[in-house]
Amino acid sequence: MIAWSLTPDEARLRLSIPTKPSSSSVSEMPSARLPIIGHPLTRTPLEGVLRAALSEDGSGIEIERWERRPHLLAEALREVRAGADFTGAIVASPHKEKAPPLADALSEDARVSGAVNVFVRADERLRGHNTDADGVRAGLVSILPRVKGKWPRNAVVLGAGGGARAVVAVLIGSGFQHVAVLNRHLHRAEALVAHFSRTARHMELRARPWHDAIIEVELARAELLINASGIGADGGESPIPAGLLPSDRYVLDLVLNHPITPLMAAAQELGGTVANGQAAFLAACTETVRLLTGTAPQLETLRGALATELGLPEEAVAVVGD
Ligand SMILES: NC(=O)c1ccc[n+]([C@@H]2O[C@H](COP(=O)([O-])OP(=O)(O)OC[C@H]3O[C@@H](n4cnc5c(N)ncnc54)[C@H](OP(=O)(O)O)[C@@H]3O)[C@@H](O)[C@H]2O)c1
Repeated sequence: MIAWSLTPDEARLRLSIPTKPSSSSVSEMPSARLPIIGHPLTRTPLEGVLRAALSEDGSGIEIERWERRPHLLAEALREVRAGADFTGAIVASPHKEKAPPLADALSEDARVSGAVNVFVRADERLRGHNTDADGVRAGLVSILPRVKGKWPRNAVVLGAGGGARAVVAVLIGSGFQHVAVLNRHLHRAEALVAHFSRTARHMELRARPWHDAIIEVELARAELLINASGIGADGGESPIPAGLLPSDRYVLDLVLNHPITPLMAAAQELGGTVANGQAAFLAACTETVRLLTGTAPQLETLRGALATELGLPEEAVAVVGD
């Protein structure tokens, strides 16, 4: 749940965006700048999907690509804060965890997760949000039992980057009691666990080395596995050997560009319930656009744009609630 939000009218007022224009007036709209800040700034579906949603919205928001090394993030955000023509900024890898101290205020999800992926500018202030968390909630709802009281309590998270922070924040908020975070570089998982030390004091949150023997032990008692390591995006590779996967697990693989990843296929074969990262991505994009414009985008617009970006037929892209 985002603690801070604007009504559509408030958002338009603060961003100086006129109420929804007729199609004939869209070309006369003043433009509002929205940089995506990352390093390296590889071309991702996010840019194309947001562009499609924002062009349909008629808000005049135009996306810019800002490749900035980590030590230049603060300067980039100062420019956004000072410029009246900026709507906000999108924060991409590897800056999400570095961004919270640079905000003037944080949403509850950004504060708890210690990661920001969207800044909204208002009154020369930048409020940081974490819409990845909205996405993770949608992803979990798509695979876990409808009745929340029946949700499992044990989970394994692969990865410890900005996306994994949103995952852990949502798991803690959803009542999980035992969460193991495995990362290629253990120190990053340890930093994640240290960040959550207060929020997670009522439960067991542990950083664990990424070794087969440890994966096997952790998966034996965890009903839910979430892959936030990106392994599988290149196709063909699973983050864990199929032989280590127990039967009947819930698997949320946040990989976006394959309807079925090798990890999902292996889990499904063992009776598991699986989802890729598409529904999570679409839910996160929906909330991002709503924060920036005050109006939720058409889900079909986002889904069509994601299909185009991924080179998939639209039917192959998940819908939120699938
Ligand atoms: N679908 C969604 O809504 C959604 C939302 C957020 C993220 N994601 C996905 O989640 C992935 C991570 O995103 P992020 O924002 O967390 O990025 P990030 O902050 O750059 O973190 C990357 C994470 O992936 C791990 N990793 C990368 N390559 C690896 C490899 N070859 N072997 C093992 N671990 C590897 C990194 O481990 P080290 O720390 O050891 O380098 C780190 O934990 C991306 O694929 C992204 O698309 C999806």
